[in-house]
Amino acid sequence: MCEFKKKFSLPSRYEFEGKSVWVEYHELATKYNPINLGHGFPNFPPPQYVKDALMEVASSPDNSLNQYTRGPGHPRLVQALSKLYSSFIGREINPYTEIVVSMGGYQALFLSIMGIIDKGDEVIIMEPYFDCYADNVKSAGGTPRFISFKLKENINGVTSDDWVLDRGELEELFNPKTKAIIINSPQNPLGKVFTLDELTHIADLCKKWNVVCISDEVYEWLVYDSRKHTRMATLPDMWQRTLTIGSAGKSFGVTGWKLGWVYGPDYLIKNLQRVVVTCIRAGNTFLQETAAICIEKELSRLGQKESYFVSLGKELEAKRNVMFKFLTEAGFKPILSGGGYFMLADWSSLENLIDLSEEKDKYKDHRFTKWMTKNVGVQAIPINPFYSKDHKHLGENFVRFCFVKTDSYLEQTAQVFKTWKLQLQ
Ligand SMILES: Cc1ncc(COP(=O)(O)O)c(C=O)c1O
Repeated sequence: MCEFKKKFSLPSRYEFEGKSVWVEYHELATKYNPINLGHGFPNFPPPQYVKDALMEVASSPDNSLNQYTRGPGHPRLVQALSKLYSSFIGREINPYTEIVVSMGGYQALFLSIMGIIDKGDEVIIMEPYFDCYADNVKSAGGTPRFISFKLKENINGVTSDDWVLDRGELEELFNPKTKAIIINSPQNPLGKVFTLDELTHIADLCKKWNVVCISDEVYEWLVYDSRKHTRMATLPDMWQRTLTIGSAGKSFGVTGWKLGWVYGPDYLIKNLQRVVVTCIRAGNTFLQETAAICIEKELSRLGQKESYFVSLGKELEAKRNVMFKFLTEAGFKPILSGGGYFMLADWSSLENLIDLSEEKDKYKDHRFTKWMTKNVGVQAIPINPFYSKDHKHLGENFVRFCFVKTDSYLEQTAQVFKTWKLQLQ
């Protein structure tokens, strides 16, 4: 780099290893136009009442909806969120001091980490993890400490419940420097829904070591079969040490809205409110008003079959089953996902049937997913980017598929895999 440019190289707090898998696979999808089961977004429109709410706000004569709103969260939205979550948490959540609104679950994570992590703090992260966790911890000056889920093989088939943590290994990671642990349930990419017993173990460690739990619950409404989503903040004495993250994008099938929130105790939320005001002052008024209307609608039918929070889960469960079947028939070993948008599949039994020599990436799952995009016309996401530098090999046998797609798109994928399978034989 020439001398004068050197002064402007990327600040060290943003120097992370590797290229972003999202940028790389977005470019790949643009170039090859595959069936895109890589990225986690619905390819079907949101429900009509969400579109109606958008129209209602767009045509409102109230000009304040086009202007700046309260920094840590638009009043109508924080009031709606307070009503929604107070009913689940079993305490009155103060809309002004115990909630902060963000640009998506992504920024909610950023605010949570920047708001509590300082130089020298350690943060426990479970692998494979949503990729921004570790980068945010590092840019806050903290040190991520990783623990990997291990798959316990089950003779009756494998589900995401079979991804488990070694309890002794987890206990060993806690020490006086531990400031936070990040959990994600339902989990991306595993589809794991944590059991009460697993959460209780983590909660006990948080209390023992005076640690905050950042609980990423953006897929909170999407749990399948007879599983239940348990909110970490509802466990005994955990409200005062839990920051819970939610997302309008995931709740209403509108990922492009990038609207999220964090709720938790006031002494922590006050730090996050400081961060949000420092970086954006205030979020988008228009979308916050729209999301408030949508949540108010859901509040009137919470838990009923008409609720989108209920019906979307049912719809996705059926799509997950369709995907499980066609991946199995194509020769993958999918892991039946218990919640969220994604399913992992072990592709290693296909390895001997194909030639990946054209692909030069270091990790096999990268080579396979690129090859599959170009030669089969289906894109999935490799799993090694969800692991820390020294553990990437643990993800090499797996790829991630998103099943939040129309039935016809999934049917088209099934046909493409069928044709491919015939060519392999
Ligand atoms: C586990 C997890 N957390 C947070 C986010 C970010 O949520 P949002 O799209 O609302 O920014 C995602 C998005 O894919 C996710 O999978």
